[in-house]
Amino acid sequence: MTTAHVRVELVPIFTDNYVFILINEDRKSCVVVDPGSAPEVTSYLRKHQLSLSGVLLTHHHNDHIGGVQELLQDFPAPVFAPLKNKNQIPYAQQYVQDKDRVKLEDFSFEVIELPGHTLGHVAFWQEQKKWLFSGDVLFGLGCGRLFEGTYEQAYNSLQKIKSFPNDSLIFCTHEYTEQNMLFCQMLSANDNAPLTGDDEDLELYANELHNKRSLSLPSVPLKLGIEKKVNPFLLANSIEQFTYLRELRNKQ
Ligand SMILES: [Fe+2]
Repeated sequence: MTTAHVRVELVPIFTDNYVFILINEDRKSCVVVDPGSAPEVTSYLRKHQLSLSGVLLTHHHNDHIGGVQELLQDFPAPVFAPLKNKNQIPYAQQYVQDKDRVKLEDFSFEVIELPGHTLGHVAFWQEQKKWLFSGDVLFGLGCGRLFEGTYEQAYNSLQKIKSFPNDSLIFCTHEYTEQNMLFCQMLSANDNAPLTGDDEDLELYANELHNKRSLSLPSVPLKLGIEKKVNPFLLANSIEQFTYLRELRNKQ
């Protein structure tokens, strides 16, 4: 892949979702990740005169797939969906599982299975750019709720993400970082400091987050190296610790 002229555009939909559009500026083509709604995406593609090479889906929740068929009416393209979601996403051209490769023109991805939020959840890893499109598994200072998987599965999925390089960029679907910051500050104030990292790191994160959000800028993509330092769910070093945190967060 020639990486010089590719970039990711974040298109906000609903109240706090992002659709990711990976744009190859040379070819004027793009790949769309998790289009939960179509109109915002089709108008972006039209405005920038982009062709659609393919659609990647991380899991079957409607806020990730709800716009796919409407998008395909205007921009026909192959859809790649998790094999374990074949029943919920019957219209995909290709079903993917762990370690599969997806090649779309100049873009190439490795499929990483990350069960927990849902059983079939996958992420798409673009290794040259170190971009991870990770759906609802990891959020800024948080992680996805467990709708289908076990605590053990979700914990192991986060361990997998932790094994990626520190300079990886995490493209998670929701803008939840500010709510999660309140959770971290509560943990920190209640003597759970080991699970929120150093106070200094958390304060730096809080300042940067405030600066971005006060300008209505997204907190996504996340820098994995920083999340490893302050995200309690990545700092948890046992399934028990992870379970404690997730249950505490569920009550908020
Ligand atoms: Fe979801």
